[in-house]
Amino acid sequence: MSVASDKHIELHCTNCGYTLDYKTGEAVCPRCGESILEAAYDLDALNRSNWPEQLARRRPGVWRYHELLPLRDLDHIVTMGEGGTPMLRPPNLSTLLGLKNLFIKDERQGPTGSFKDRQASVAISVLREWGVSEAVVASTGNVAIAYAAYAARGGIKLWTFLTSQVPGDKMREVALYGAEVIKVTGTYDATKAVAAQFAQSRKLFLDRGIKSIAAIESMKTMAYEIAEDLDWRAPDWFIQGVSGGMGPIGVAKGFQELMQLGLVDKVPAIGIVQSEGCAPMVNAFKAGQRIATPVENPQTLIATLSTGRPGRAYEWLWSIMQEWGGTAETASDEEAFEAMHLLARLDGLSVEPATAVAFAGFFKMVRNGMIRPDDVVVFNCSGHTSSVEKHVLGDQWARQVDVSRAGRVSLPEEGLLSALEQVEAAVSRIVVIDDTADAARLIERILQTRGRYQVEIARDGASGIELVKEVRPDVVITDLMMPGMDGFEVIDRLKADPALSGIPIIVLTAKELTPRERDRLSGQIEFLLQKGSFLDEDLLQGIIKTLR
Ligand SMILES: Cc1ncc(COP(=O)(O)O)c(C=O)c1O
Ligand SMILES: [Zn+2]
Repeated sequence: MSVASDKHIELHCTNCGYTLDYKTGEAVCPRCGESILEAAYDLDALNRSNWPEQLARRRPGVWRYHELLPLRDLDHIVTMGEGGTPMLRPPNLSTLLGLKNLFIKDERQGPTGSFKDRQASVAISVLREWGVSEAVVASTGNVAIAYAAYAARGGIKLWTFLTSQVPGDKMREVALYGAEVIKVTGTYDATKAVAAQFAQSRKLFLDRGIKSIAAIESMKTMAYEIAEDLDWRAPDWFIQGVSGGMGPIGVAKGFQELMQLGLVDKVPAIGIVQSEGCAPMVNAFKAGQRIATPVENPQTLIATLSTGRPGRAYEWLWSIMQEWGGTAETASDEEAFEAMHLLARLDGLSVEPATAVAFAGFFKMVRNGMIRPDDVVVFNCSGHTSSVEKHVLGDQWARQVDVSRAGRVSLPEEGLLSALEQVEAAVSRIVVIDDTADAARLIERILQTRGRYQVEIARDGASGIELVKEVRPDVVITDLMMPGMDGFEVIDRLKADPALSGIPIIVLTAKELTPRERDRLSGQIEFLLQKGSFLDEDLLQGIIKTLR
């Protein structure tokens, strides 16, 4: 890549507004001592260069936006193809929640599996430009993994300080890349303090986390990619599980720059989620407070999100959310694990707990109406489930088939068949009557992944009644609004036929019912689920109760 030595970058003090030039090394404001400074670029010059057209000719990834990143000589770039991650649509989750425009920014596809790969690539490249050969970083796991990989590649010795709550698998990955791993028994905030002392005593470079220019600047690239993917529009929401707040702050800065460039017309509202046992930011936001009360003893299995003292970062995020809108939710570890399982079962996505907790909070935002059915929602999604699958699945996750003895005796098929027969448990038959193909298929999927259900689908009322006569199901699930014979009439006819009147009926509808319609259904059906506001567990529990 070329050398951009004429690049002019200024730093603006977020406290007093003082401006200084961006040079080698981290800076604090010389006027007021503030340590959070914001980088500013020559956006007018960029605008004159017809940037979007240039971008269209570049390869995907973080560095395609190099004009707006804090590196002067592009020969210093340490890259492994980070960024350029796809925006996946989760079709089944979208149907379940009734959201038409849900996108998952799939940061799992980064080199080490989280959005922190962007940060590591920019931060390690900048260290190379500054001639730093040894550095110290404190982390809740993913930053250490990403930095360790990029530091190895960039030839920088790295000392990582991790809280002892970080899963062993993650720590070993850090060690595998050749970084020094120091486990600190204590909170993440205490771990940061130990790392800082160590760096000071050894006179080593200390990564300043959210106060590092490289860190925030790297996160902007998610905003640029999202805007490009949406044909230069900003989504209505950016949702993330937060710890220090770097992701949403950086993304908001990215959209602000795109606004200044005239490429988008707003900054998305920010939805933040934290674990119930460590939610200083969410608690403060819900209470309308600009300053967060620290959580001194985080109580959560989700170590990744265990920043108890967000400090000034929260004030920064708070002001962004005041200006552009936002919402905040907590979710328990159990809710996070349920959400993780749901996402995996429904749409084949395996996400780590820090992302799963965000999904659990996000479900609440949809249910309480903060997020509307037409909103364009982008979700920051990272990680892999492997270290926590035991919490999610329990012990009953496989069925055992033993053919080892049968295989050695004369008739292997017989042994195999009788073993397989044990796998087939009792089946409940369910008829689904729904004219929307997506909804019908989703119900089928939900039930089939749970094993014991045989689902038959009819696409209109008349053929639904015929199907019920033929199959004699254990339960009927019907929509109400259908062309031709609607759900009300289907129910009336089933109830009028003595041979079918005993079959329990569940109604699944997108329609807001009038009191008269409710009266008409009462006594006829087992229960009613509102489309877009139920989770698969609600449906399943309803069916299990009905069958009993
Ligand atoms: C997967 C994942 N999600 C969320 C976070 C929280 O990041 P932040 O609050 O700094 O944006 C982290 C931090 O390491 C992470 O690894
Ligand atoms: Zn200042």
